[in-house]
Amino acid sequence: MSDVLGTLFSLEREIVVVTGGYGLIGRRLVSGLHDLGARVAVIEPNTNLDKTAAAFGEIAKSERLCVLEANVVSRPTLERALVALKTRWGAPTGLVNNAGLDSPPDAPAAENGPFETYPEQSWDRVMEVNVKGVFLCCQVFGAAMAEAGRGTIVNIGSIYGAVSPDQSLYEYRRQGGETFFKPVAYAASKSAVYNLTRYLAAYWGPRNVRSNTVTLAGVFNDQDPRFLEAYARKIPLRRGKPHLSNMAEPYDYLGAVAFLLSPASGYMTGGDIRVDGGFMAI
Ligand SMILES: NC(=O)c1ccc[n+]([C@@H]2O[C@H](COP(=O)([O-])OP(=O)(O)OC[C@H]3O[C@@H](n4cnc5c(N)ncnc54)[C@H](O)[C@@H]3O)[C@@H](O)[C@H]2O)c1
Repeated sequence: MSDVLGTLFSLEREIVVVTGGYGLIGRRLVSGLHDLGARVAVIEPNTNLDKTAAAFGEIAKSERLCVLEANVVSRPTLERALVALKTRWGAPTGLVNNAGLDSPPDAPAAENGPFETYPEQSWDRVMEVNVKGVFLCCQVFGAAMAEAGRGTIVNIGSIYGAVSPDQSLYEYRRQGGETFFKPVAYAASKSAVYNLTRYLAAYWGPRNVRSNTVTLAGVFNDQDPRFLEAYARKIPLRRGKPHLSNMAEPYDYLGAVAFLLSPASGYMTGGDIRVDGGFMAI
């Protein structure tokens, strides 16, 4: 038993690909997984040393971190990244599909306008990265895991893939004269990720590749105070943080992702860990 306990939460044997590793959440996941002992390969479409240093600080120089330039919607670039990874460390044992697109609050008016006129091109752009991108990364990196007979996929989901965005959170913008609605494509794309995850759990279970989601709620990122106030009413958890918000911090998701990548979750596949401050409990 003590042998099992020694390695239960260890990431020291893991070679983990994290897509979108420069982003708000991605950079915390990458640094955290590295600090927990994993070798971490970051996938980003436009890489350079300055961006890598800005995202990861001292860790940027670590031998257990590498940055591979690839676009999640381009299979040839992902295949090249896989070859580079295998040459450097061997086949991946973990994949965190974290890259994602959402419409920022300051996106062009049409994108945050009514559903009836939501632009088709915006739909395609979001679906391409959030669904096709996850699909292609699973095809390329997941297949390498299946071939090796071991691996775990963690797909980053969202509360808005499980329930609809609550449009009342944006009422303050409509009261200010804008026609603002949280758009549809992000919600639809994130819900697709859940069944892609379950599909792969069934498909690759016999090859010892696990596939799970982590469901995230909104992360504090200096949002408008009126939004923060409305959002705070949706989150029962209070942690006595210094600012008004009780939104998540980017590192709040590291524990669930690390657990799903570690032997501790070895019998878990096709599942979901919801980390949302209680958003979906009420
Ligand atoms: N921030 C939140 O409040 C929140 C809430 C719920 C879920 N999420 C999910 O968490 C994940 C990370 O979100 P974030 O807030 O850190 O986003 P972010 O915009 O800060 O970072 C996204 C990263 O993905 C990269 N990326 C975009 N398109 C790519 C492509 N084609 N190929 C490779 N990389 C690409 C970007 O360069 C960027 O570094 C996303 O899947 C998002 O949907 C975020």
